[in-house]
Amino acid sequence: MLRSDQQNGNQLSEWQGLRRTVDRPLEEALGLPNSAYTSQAYFEYERDNLMAKTWTCIGVGCDLPNPGDVRPVSFMGIPLFMLRDRHGAVKVFHNVCSHRGLELVSEPGRIKNNMVRCPYHSWVYDLDGNLRSTPMIGGPGQNACPGFSKEGKGLRQVRSAVWLDMVFINLSGDAPDFVDHMAPLMNRWSHYDFSLLQHGGAESSWRIDLKSNWKLPVENHCDAYHLPWVHPDLNRRSPFEVHYPLLDENLFAGQGSRAFSGEPPAGEPALPMFPGLTEAQETVAEYVSIYPNATAGVHANHVWTVWFEALSPEVTVERMEIYYIGEAASDDAFKRTREKFCASWLQVFQEDQWVCEAMQRGRHSPAFSGGVFSPALDAPVHNLHRWVARQLDRAAAPLAAE
Ligand code: FES
Ligand SMILES: [Fe+2]
Repeated sequence: MLRSDQQNGNQLSEWQGLRRTVDRPLEEALGLPNSAYTSQAYFEYERDNLMAKTWTCIGVGCDLPNPGDVRPVSFMGIPLFMLRDRHGAVKVFHNVCSHRGLELVSEPGRIKNNMVRCPYHSWVYDLDGNLRSTPMIGGPGQNACPGFSKEGKGLRQVRSAVWLDMVFINLSGDAPDFVDHMAPLMNRWSHYDFSLLQHGGAESSWRIDLKSNWKLPVENHCDAYHLPWVHPDLNRRSPFEVHYPLLDENLFAGQGSRAFSGEPPAGEPALPMFPGLTEAQETVAEYVSIYPNATAGVHANHVWTVWFEALSPEVTVERMEIYYIGEAASDDAFKRTREKFCASWLQVFQEDQWVCEAMQRGRHSPAFSGGVFSPALDAPVHNLHRWVARQLDRAAAPLAAE
């Protein structure tokens, strides 16, 4: 059924006005409404007014191991592609030919001769996106044509940055500088030398297909409250009671633990650790949701990242990569330990899968309108809701002024 303009207008003003109910003291605040998790119109509104205007994760560098590797990405329906150039840098472009609008890169692979060639009429772009050749544009044997200049007809590059091997983009192009944006977390974790991180290889990746909106796993990741019931094993190793909340109003929410033990399986050697950590720092683990759609878990002997690819309002792909400290950690001597770490993290996230999917089903209930928060324990989840509401309010400000 087509929605009337009146319905769309009502919905828009509801989303623009979310701060009224969400951005309140924790005891009074409501959570985001059901439509923020179920509506296609909201999904696109959020993409354009929230995800596009900040730094959003669209992939991982380890998917592009070699120069010339390319990978298509759908940014909530907008076609992009990532590319590793010959100097090793990751670049992101809009995935569309400037001639007739063909999607240029349709599957992951390696481009030839440092050029991106459109398969339709064979126009060729270099790795800076410049249009370099237009075969037969002027007719047979004529690769140039009066009235046509290649100038200004290249690919449109998207602002991007890589941190912890995650590829972030700012589609609108006007967000603050990435390092300034990420500074609260970069500073918090400045005692870890992340330049030493090496991906753990085949046994250090997994993917879960979630039947839920992307925000639910991000929220769940901030939530330490569910540990005793959903993760009894993890809660024995890292009890809920020793977790402490982590909050930054504009960038992240999560939790830390002072009971981390990176014990290898019996009889296996201990993994290398970040150099220069104090004894206290060796037992700390911190887990944060980095707004909007990335998460990271940092430990003395490994780091994992999980990012969420929002395919539709109710379908999200969750991908984890695990990294270890220094090349030595890739040695076969640590293979069993890497496998054990990967399996135990996969178990935790699989335990979370049904929680997210059941919350998603609950978002179809007319008896639920955002929910309420525990004043003692839900500050991290509320922090994310409040951030979303504030971003949408900011996006709405010019409209309100018109
Ligand atoms: S659409 Fe790409 S060359 Fe024509
Ligand atoms: Fe969990």
